[in-house]
Amino acid sequence: MDEYVIKGGNPLVGEVEIGGAKNAALAILSAAVMTDETVTIENLPNVGDINVLLNAIKEIGARVDRVDAHTVKINGSFIRDFNVDNEYIRKIRASYYLIGALLGKYKRAEVALPGGCNIGSRPIDLHLKGFSALGAKVDIRHGLVLAEAERLIGTHIYLDKVSVGATINIMMTASMAEGKTIIENAAKEPHVVDVANFLNSMGANIRGAGTDVIRIVGVEKLHKTEYSVIPDQIEAGTFMFAAAATKGDVTVKNVIPKHLEATTAKLLEIGCEVEEFDDAVRVVASKPLHHTQVTTLTYPGFPTDMQPQMAVVLGIAEGTSTVTESIFENRFKYVDELTRMGAKIKVESNIAIINGVERYTGARVNAPDLRAGAALVIAGLAADGITVVDDIYYIERGYEEFEKKLAALGAMIEKVSSEKEIQKFTLKVS
Ligand code: EPZ
Repeated sequence: MDEYVIKGGNPLVGEVEIGGAKNAALAILSAAVMTDETVTIENLPNVGDINVLLNAIKEIGARVDRVDAHTVKINGSFIRDFNVDNEYIRKIRASYYLIGALLGKYKRAEVALPGGCNIGSRPIDLHLKGFSALGAKVDIRHGLVLAEAERLIGTHIYLDKVSVGATINIMMTASMAEGKTIIENAAKEPHVVDVANFLNSMGANIRGAGTDVIRIVGVEKLHKTEYSVIPDQIEAGTFMFAAAATKGDVTVKNVIPKHLEATTAKLLEIGCEVEEFDDAVRVVASKPLHHTQVTTLTYPGFPTDMQPQMAVVLGIAEGTSTVTESIFENRFKYVDELTRMGAKIKVESNIAIINGVERYTGARVNAPDLRAGAALVIAGLAADGITVVDDIYYIERGYEEFEKKLAALGAMIEKVSSEKEIQKFTLKVS
């Protein structure tokens, strides 16, 4: 099993190019099968989840032509199989987007229930409620979601909870339903807006994405398009926190600063300097960092996907901080691992109370999920000594060439797959 081995202590300095947004791209790739014409998607992140979804789309008969690592052409006209129950699809959470896409276009879908990160129960009841409201008959049988409809009729849907996935999924299906659909209490994340823009570029009629009321007027057909995915605000934020933790000076390039406002606000609060440019943000951490309070919220609040990274930085900031996780019920699994590196964190229900320590010390840790894994790497970059992060396939689900980008900023980090390589690295850096 591959691992990252890290020697901490080097400040990260320099520039890093941010890739396309994984959570926008996963929905866009699914929506691409809603037309019989060829769709070209650029600025795809070349990460595990994307490649798994592309394999699943190919499995059901779509033409998938990988032009290069970051560009794909998809033609859904060859799809004959609406049963998506293959080894690929059960691995990822975003498999649920294929339900909305196939239901919208073919009025039927049979998709394996989603897998994904273990950060909570992650139900999809809001998705299924939305499909039913549009006129579909929805069942769960033998681990599959079965959805089919004679006709899909636009309607007024109020989401009991703000859900990114449910908002996007219902928006996709409604884009080919008859008549008007209104989604109230919709998620406002940048990737919701990106998927709406993508669908509109295919001829859909969606207004209000990015607000909590989205209005859709269904169309009969969608057509070809060429589309570039927005930059990944979570990848960008992860590098911004890595700069803070290592007292570095990092410019993240090819970003939309507005999408990073909550992260920038917190970095300023704890004592970093942050400079915004048109498509870049520079983070300088030259002074000692201090404590703050953070609560994860839906956009434009502080993103839950940045919660572990924030906690790692607060773990070596002066004073006592609190991090409240209000979106998922089990997103503090990294705390046990961080404690092995010397962190002083106590979790009570959905609040982590963090007493900052001078420094972390290197240790062997396991990545419990995607973002927590990235956060443990950040801790290793700031720690005294050697850290080995195991189960890095979680991290590679959402970060492209993570260790290469960090090494280019001055980090001493390598991907290894044996004890021998760890010893070799340790000798080299000592
Ligand atoms: C998306 O997950 C992202 N994943 C997550 O990113 C992200 O953390 C999350 O949005 C919140 O921003 C993808 O886009 C593939 P939700 P999603 O529906 O859509 C509850 C990462 O690290 N809920 O907004 O599944 C749910 O349990 C991943 O890239 C229901 O109760 O998140 C959670 O408590 C991790 N019923 C809350 O809503 C439903 O039907 C928000 O979930 C759906 C969700």
